[in-house]
Amino acid sequence: MKKILYLFFAIFVTAIFRVSNAEETFSCSIEKQKGNYLRIDEPVYDTDDEIIVPQSEEYYMREVQQAFIFDYFYSKQQYDDNGNKMDLGTNILQIPLRRIDEKREISKAGNFYYYNFTITLHCNNDDTVDTHTFVPIIDTNNHGPFFGKPKYTYNLISSYAEDFKRQQLLNPIIATDYDVTNTAVKFNIEENNHFDIMYNGIVPNSLNKQHYALLTPKIPGKPITDKIEVIVTVTDMGFPSRSNVTKVEINPPSPPMPIFKSPFYVGHYYKNHTFVMHDNLELEEGCTFYSTTVEILVEDMRCQIFYATIVKDEIIINKSSKEYVNNFYEENYTVYKLKAKYTNPITNLFTVGTATFILEHHHDL
Ligand SMILES: *[C@@H]1O[C@H](CO)[C@@H](O)[C@H](O)[C@H]1NC(C)=O
Ligand SMILES: *[C@@H]1O[C@H](CO)[C@@H](O)[C@H](O)[C@H]1NC(C)=O
Ligand SMILES: *[C@@H]1O[C@H](CO)[C@@H](O)[C@H](O)[C@H]1NC(C)=O
Ligand SMILES: *[C@@H]1O[C@H](CO)[C@@H](O)[C@H](O)[C@H]1NC(C)=O
Ligand SMILES: *[C@@H]1O[C@H](CO)[C@@H](O)[C@H](O)[C@H]1NC(C)=O
Repeated sequence: MKKILYLFFAIFVTAIFRVSNAEETFSCSIEKQKGNYLRIDEPVYDTDDEIIVPQSEEYYMREVQQAFIFDYFYSKQQYDDNGNKMDLGTNILQIPLRRIDEKREISKAGNFYYYNFTITLHCNNDDTVDTHTFVPIIDTNNHGPFFGKPKYTYNLISSYAEDFKRQQLLNPIIATDYDVTNTAVKFNIEENNHFDIMYNGIVPNSLNKQHYALLTPKIPGKPITDKIEVIVTVTDMGFPSRSNVTKVEINPPSPPMPIFKSPFYVGHYYKNHTFVMHDNLELEEGCTFYSTTVEILVEDMRCQIFYATIVKDEIIINKSSKEYVNNFYEENYTVYKLKAKYTNPITNLFTVGTATFILEHHHDL
């Protein structure tokens, strides 16, 4: 494998050398430099270990006063403690090949990866020569991809698919993979009836390390009416490949909670079984915007004696003609619970609000 990579590299670099004018002579040079290109044969390895073989290559410099390497490979020896450029005072250039910096961009030719940096030579005759330098990289898949969040939650304000699409743009699902040779990842979604997943490109300015996933509806335009929870997997392209997961939760919209205008309502019951209420019940948003129902409960059971009827925006409590309040003389009043329910007709999601209904027993009238 390594030999094949070398071969690719050799072919690639030879191509570059051929393009450059190898005949051209420069005022100064580094050993093994061809034209103004230098190929370093010893590759940088990326392994699971923190530190890479700290090899350093030495090159003999001809007619060079100073050499500066403007890259992550730069040799500290060329800067003094104040960060000023220093005269090496020798005609040996040391290029320490450091550990791979997985957060930096690398160059690629076919399936082959390399670092590409420039060494600037200041020649004795004051010319400068930029020497384009190439170092092959042997990468291993020592980073697993991971998602930005362990769980992505989308609380929809509308059941239209466009709302979910908009929310995905605002809060995108992103997977990161730091491996230098990472160029893409694959996304998979757990089997479900609602969404497929697609790779949606590289996050700009992420040095190819971050990738967007996009959930797309299986049936375009279908409203989102159920709560959906799916596991999404990201897999990198390494050998062997590595994976990680996140959970995506999509909550379709719920209506607001119904609120009674008054926390309690009073009804009057007389010994001749006449029932009178002076005020009807009202909800803050009215009863017509959502599908509204109101129940009267006694100890969480449906009350047999009273029932609520919605007339336009008001709720009227009526007494059933056959039923009577049978603890009329034992108690001075009875407490009932009023339960209003808003239901979103598309999603069938509902919310509940309550108030108290107090029935006064008028024993003496
Ligand atoms: C080397 O890197 C520079 C910038 O970093 C880029 O412009 C140039 O195309 C690269 N050359 C090769 C041969 O990869
Ligand atoms: C998945 O990613 C999380 C960080 O987001 C990490 O803690 C966890 O170890 C990863 N799991 C695997 C199997 O790589
Ligand atoms: C409820 O009672 C009111 C009078 O308070 C009456 O007008 C209305 O018809 C009754 N509604 C039902 C459904 O019984
Ligand atoms: C009902 O009210 C009367 C008079 O205020 C009181 O004497 C009686 O104890 C009350 N009954 C109950 C069950 O609370
Ligand atoms: C029942 O009694 C109340 C209070 O005394 C009275 O206002 C009402 O008219 C009576 N209803 C009937 C049907 O007699």
